[in-house]
Amino acid sequence: MPVPRTEFIWMNGEYVKWENAKVHVLSHVLHYGSGWFEGIRCYDTKRGPAIFRLKEHIKRLENSVKIYHAELPYSQKQICDETVELVRKNKLASCYIRPLAYRGLGEMGVNPLGCPMELIIAAWEWGRYLGKEALEEGVDVCVSSWNHLTPNTMPSISKASSNYMNSQLVRLEAVRHGYSEGISLDSYGNLSEGSGENVFLVADGTLITPPAGASLLPGITRDTVIQLAHDLKIPVKEQTIPRAMLYVADEVFMTGTAVEMTPVRSVDRLTVGSGKTGPITTKLMKAFFSVIQDGKDPHGWLTFINSGKKTTSVSKSAKKKTGKK
Ligand SMILES: Cc1ncc(COP(=O)(O)O)c(C=O)c1O
Repeated sequence: MPVPRTEFIWMNGEYVKWENAKVHVLSHVLHYGSGWFEGIRCYDTKRGPAIFRLKEHIKRLENSVKIYHAELPYSQKQICDETVELVRKNKLASCYIRPLAYRGLGEMGVNPLGCPMELIIAAWEWGRYLGKEALEEGVDVCVSSWNHLTPNTMPSISKASSNYMNSQLVRLEAVRHGYSEGISLDSYGNLSEGSGENVFLVADGTLITPPAGASLLPGITRDTVIQLAHDLKIPVKEQTIPRAMLYVADEVFMTGTAVEMTPVRSVDRLTVGSGKTGPITTKLMKAFFSVIQDGKDPHGWLTFINSGKKTTSVSKSAKKKTGKK
């Protein structure tokens, strides 16, 4: 589905009209992949529209950039405030938010230091990433023939645009073979993550997920599910997961901002458990949806759009950070 048009995109300190949000063709990011982004959701909860774990996403963006010896051109607080303002200005309630930092037009060549760091924030309405039925019925996935990034090639904890070339190979292969999604293994053949989501399985009542050392992006939804499991007294283990454990797990599900919590009903055409969403997945999904639908927020994960508190606009009151990075 093409990206639905909204009125404004925030670009380097200004709200610009959708059609004017443009970059130069010689921008460093287009040639060398030097971009970093976030995917965030705003939910139309029963208590009003609220952005889910906004601060954690912006903190991760800052870390993603730092790994590449760069710095965001605006503070975390400024970016959070502008994100809230953008959702308001576009009169959105339930939407997907995409902040993207990138190296712009400057010098050509691999060394990026002569190129300015730029930042945009866009938001648009976006439904279910893996289709309408995915959450109720679960999805069919495969283990990809493509391995995930190895730790000393591309750091997977940085959500860098260039990492998604690997994800594209995984996703293209999965779709070509009739699966909804592909899961990749790390360079040791153990479970890493999906092309755009983390993976959990349940075995003998314990929730198990691979550790950050398995070349994955430590997802904010992954962290959310772990915290909810603690609340519900479900035992959680982060451990190396050999591929075959996926085939014998009682339950498997994926987490991510785009897929939210999506049950997996088969892996490589082997049915997971009974083929229906299992009891632990169901419990966790209920807890997750009570936050994002009902707006029940004991952990302080929601930033309400209409909290009555006016946010300041960077373009009017706050200056771009001056750093040469
Ligand atoms: C490769 C990859 N892994 C995991 C995730 C899940 O991360 P989060 O829950 O923070 O969206 C994403 C989505 O952002 C992703 O692209």
